[in-house]
Amino acid sequence: MLPSPHPFSRCTVATVRQIFHPDTGQRLADNQMVCHYPNHYELTRKDLMVKNIKRYIRDQVKEGNSVEGADCLPVTYLLPADYSLFVEEFRRSPNCMWIMKPANAAQGRGIFIINKLAQIKKWSSGRFAGRDQETYVVSRYIENPLLIGGKKFDLRIYVLITSFRPLRMYLGDGFARFCNANYSSDLADIDNMYIHLTNVSVQKHNEDYNDQHGGKWNIQNLRLYLESTRGLAATEKMFSDIDDLLVHSAKSVQNVIINDRHCFECYGYDLLLDDDLKPWLVEINASPSMNATSQGDREMKTKLMKDVFDIVLPDSVNVNDPDFKGATSTGPCRDTGDFVVLYDEAAEAERAARAEEMKQNAGRGRSARERPASSKLWK
Ligand SMILES: Nc1ncnc2c1ncn2[C@@H]1O[C@H](COP(=O)(O)OP(=O)(O)O)[C@@H](O)[C@H]1O
Ligand SMILES: [Mg+2]
Repeated sequence: MLPSPHPFSRCTVATVRQIFHPDTGQRLADNQMVCHYPNHYELTRKDLMVKNIKRYIRDQVKEGNSVEGADCLPVTYLLPADYSLFVEEFRRSPNCMWIMKPANAAQGRGIFIINKLAQIKKWSSGRFAGRDQETYVVSRYIENPLLIGGKKFDLRIYVLITSFRPLRMYLGDGFARFCNANYSSDLADIDNMYIHLTNVSVQKHNEDYNDQHGGKWNIQNLRLYLESTRGLAATEKMFSDIDDLLVHSAKSVQNVIINDRHCFECYGYDLLLDDDLKPWLVEINASPSMNATSQGDREMKTKLMKDVFDIVLPDSVNVNDPDFKGATSTGPCRDTGDFVVLYDEAAEAERAARAEEMKQNAGRGRSARERPASSKLWK
């Protein structure tokens, strides 16, 4: 058993894997909670995330369910496994840019962009000949990102999941992270990572990096900007599409994640917006950086942590109560601090059953919305 006088044990992903490994003989006390799911990597490794979402879409289509919003991944292949498929696709649209990323790295490490097959052939011949075959993902590069002030940016959005079965999901704060250099899809700039990668860990080495604002905007500012430049309806739709994307991504691993009741996880989603305001899922991080680049950033992240703890263990709950069985024993999800309920599967099921009952009684009626409209988010 893990020694801890406190219900929360801050564990790295490696420690969590050790705790839940059958050979270690460790187990958590009823009143202990940890901040990762044992096999969180199903969602947070780039290759597994892609596999799970592709499978989920296939299954949903087979069952005749709507996958609106789930189609959020740029065309992606795993290397070396899908090399022949990738080559076929590459030849179908030869003038495109592709981004190569190690499946299990972070902070922009090992990433490069290509537009010729020869580049990947040269790279792979040395690499995949040996035994140490690190998996890469290769994705269509989003060549038309939404630009603000001529700069590319992406979104980091925090999502808290306190149970996968039933799914209990909260949407937290987030921010936009800007590149320092003006965007260009010119092939002469293909190796310039200050243009293409929005990671703070990359951008902070640029001589134009501003450590006052850290190259970040909060989501409310982005919303205001979009409302004034693209209009209210298009902005609402974009945020609602983001909600759909987030929920589908979690559903894609609902039956895969080991839903241990001691676990919760605050994920850092990386999303890109293109010029048509379509959101694209880039990756999901298990341990999003809590480093602050400015005072505002520090305040936001401090609040985020406080809100996470308030949700996972509300004041009203006594963790030593024998009835305490993790998140599902704390009643329906509730908006808390800066987090709003994104999906509460048990509440949805109840709502749907009530709506069905009303429909039966009235002989007519509207079908229940899957979940509340997202327009209240980030306002
Ligand atoms: N398909 C893509 N199209 C355009 N830009 C991308 C794409 N994938 C990633 N990027 C850019 O590269 C950055 C790093 O990619 P990401 O998958 O988040 O890897 P890392 O784990 O290294 O952060 C992203 O934040 C984004 O700016
Ligand atoms: Mg990233």
